[in-house]
Amino acid sequence: MMVPQIEFPKHNFSISRLVYGIWRLHEDPLGASVERIYEKIQTCLNFGIDTFDHADIYGDYENEERFGIVLDKHPAIKSKIKIITKCGIQVPGVKFPTKHYNTSKEHIRYSVERSLRKLKVDCLDVVLIHRPDPLMDPQEMSEVFETLIKEGKAKHFGVSNFTTSHFQMLQSVYKRPLFTNQVEFSLFRTEPIFDGTFDQAIQYGFHPMVWSPTAGGRIFSPKTETESKTHQKLEMMAKEKGCKIDQILYSWFLNHPAGLVPILGTNDPKRIQSAADCFSFPLSRVEWFSLLEVARGKEVA
Ligand SMILES: NC(=O)c1ccc[n+]([C@@H]2O[C@H](COP(=O)([O-])OP(=O)(O)OC[C@H]3O[C@@H](n4cnc5c(N)ncnc54)[C@H](OP(=O)(O)O)[C@@H]3O)[C@@H](O)[C@H]2O)c1
Repeated sequence: MMVPQIEFPKHNFSISRLVYGIWRLHEDPLGASVERIYEKIQTCLNFGIDTFDHADIYGDYENEERFGIVLDKHPAIKSKIKIITKCGIQVPGVKFPTKHYNTSKEHIRYSVERSLRKLKVDCLDVVLIHRPDPLMDPQEMSEVFETLIKEGKAKHFGVSNFTTSHFQMLQSVYKRPLFTNQVEFSLFRTEPIFDGTFDQAIQYGFHPMVWSPTAGGRIFSPKTETESKTHQKLEMMAKEKGCKIDQILYSWFLNHPAGLVPILGTNDPKRIQSAADCFSFPLSRVEWFSLLEVARGKEVA
């Protein structure tokens, strides 16, 4: 089955309902050669996954470049994909001894232009501010977002890991709608359904993107008793539906009315293909709650 697109109506733009994440690209046991990366991009495209989630810092600042080399070698791919990237985190190193955030206009411009160079594209589809910066100035950020859009360097700006109040503060100043808030959410990290993060998405009319949807793989290799029970429940449901547990897992995200967009982190093309089939196994309301219950270790109040 082909992964459908999800429309962001306020942006007149769509991305694939499953996105492919680049964070672990350099950890692939089969390497990060041009051929291997191309294979994974092609697998995604074959199953309708046309959106790729980067950040400037991934792979020690090298994954954008690795991906860009593939785009340079296979330029026909460029018109088939959508690129999301992030900026704002400064990893400590030679230049800076302290890990910090930088959302100044100079740094946002510098990062966007560097991502364009590394990815070898003319325009970034979406740029996200990676983490809420305690020193962020929404006026300054809004101005540089607007200028970069007018210069044709980025189409949309959004945020990641923002609390609802951070989101509201920036949105109250930025005159265009923020594209998304990309947050950590999984059966083992359910806060966004209770702390207002997803309510806010519905209120503002955007779709949240979801990172670490398999809790960094912990869903498949449970460590605690609750995690083991969740794994057993997934196995039982998969058996009933005649599918695999990852398909139940990704299907679980699809029930939420905010229109969640999980980002796949696997380096295995077969697992990408398997995830793309999750749309064939819809979950009932009771099934959805039964997974929530087992993963939280308690029923809803
Ligand atoms: N905005 C942010 O702050 C932020 C933070 C973190 C991540 N992200 C984004 O979110 C993306 C996904 O996050 P993630 O990599 O943590 O996703 P994830 O799916 O929760 O974790 C990926 C890990 O789970 C394993 N895994 C996935 N499917 C599996 C399966 N069917 N069976 C067994 N193991 C499986 C993978 O191993 P294999 O490769 O062996 O399958 C990999 O080690 C990242 O690439 C990045 O784009 C954003």
